[in-house]
Amino acid sequence: MNQNETVIKFSEIKKMYGDFTALKKLDLEIFKGELFGFLGPNGAGKTTLIRILTGIIRPTSGKIFIGPFDLYAQPEKAKAMLGYVPDRPYLYEKLTPLEYFDFMGGLYDVARERILSKGEEMLRLFDLWDRKNELIESFSHGMKQKVAMSAAILHDPDIYVVDEPTVGLDPKSVKLAKDYFQRLVAAGKTVFLTTHTLSVAQDLCNRIAIIRNGEIIALGNLNELQNQASMPGNDLESVFLKITEEEQAFYPQNEQ
Ligand SMILES: Nc1ncnc2c1ncn2[C@@H]1O[C@H](COP(=O)(O)OP(=O)(O)OP(=O)(O)O)[C@@H](O)[C@H]1O
Ligand SMILES: [Mg+2]
Repeated sequence: MNQNETVIKFSEIKKMYGDFTALKKLDLEIFKGELFGFLGPNGAGKTTLIRILTGIIRPTSGKIFIGPFDLYAQPEKAKAMLGYVPDRPYLYEKLTPLEYFDFMGGLYDVARERILSKGEEMLRLFDLWDRKNELIESFSHGMKQKVAMSAAILHDPDIYVVDEPTVGLDPKSVKLAKDYFQRLVAAGKTVFLTTHTLSVAQDLCNRIAIIRNGEIIALGNLNELQNQASMPGNDLESVFLKITEEEQAFYPQNEQ
């Protein structure tokens, strides 16, 4: 991992929904080759930050760089660096997986041969190859999740943004997804994911941020989080619960 190369930089990201402040001047940097876990209780602001990163919504204020590109000055170049797997995979229900890959690949000008070869590789990996000609509307949540995960890699992005990848996946598929993320980072890609499955985060992530009420309250590797919580040797679940239950922020970087 190259700790010097920043691939995502959030600066002073603030997001208001009406009067409600969902993100409070959030600063965060992700480095190339990281498997970064973005954790926090329900409603903490994780999906909000991911939607901002992927350009679906705009922050009230703040700047974002993806690779060398300012998301608001060069949105197309910035977004082309990302592969996004949303938390609720609303896919085109009337398409088959292969038709969906054609559509998604087309958006990024991916060569047809790559769409076919990569699409097949991914559907086989996830045991969905037999269902390739069925409409997505007939798929279970977990199956849709797998199609979304497969579609996100067609354009060979440098950075994968994955919102709750393991929700709805069976144990074998969770293992496949974990192995897959590890292979991506071994190949020099970066993965930014949210999850409530702390065992998955503990197994996978080299660095973790914990967000609560729109503020990052802890940031570091498992060791550093254990130290912040004064719980050396404890698992991430215990550390997470302690940190998120504390009144005082452990990592008060966002003082206003
Ligand atoms: N479109 C919206 N309009 C108003 N409030 C919103 C909107 N989207 C999110 N919020 C609020 O912003 C806060 C953060 O929501 P967000 O979806 O980012 O949380 P999260 O960390 O992803 O939670 P979860 O773990 O449940 O997925 C919540 O209080 C939520 O109600
Ligand atoms: Mg969410």
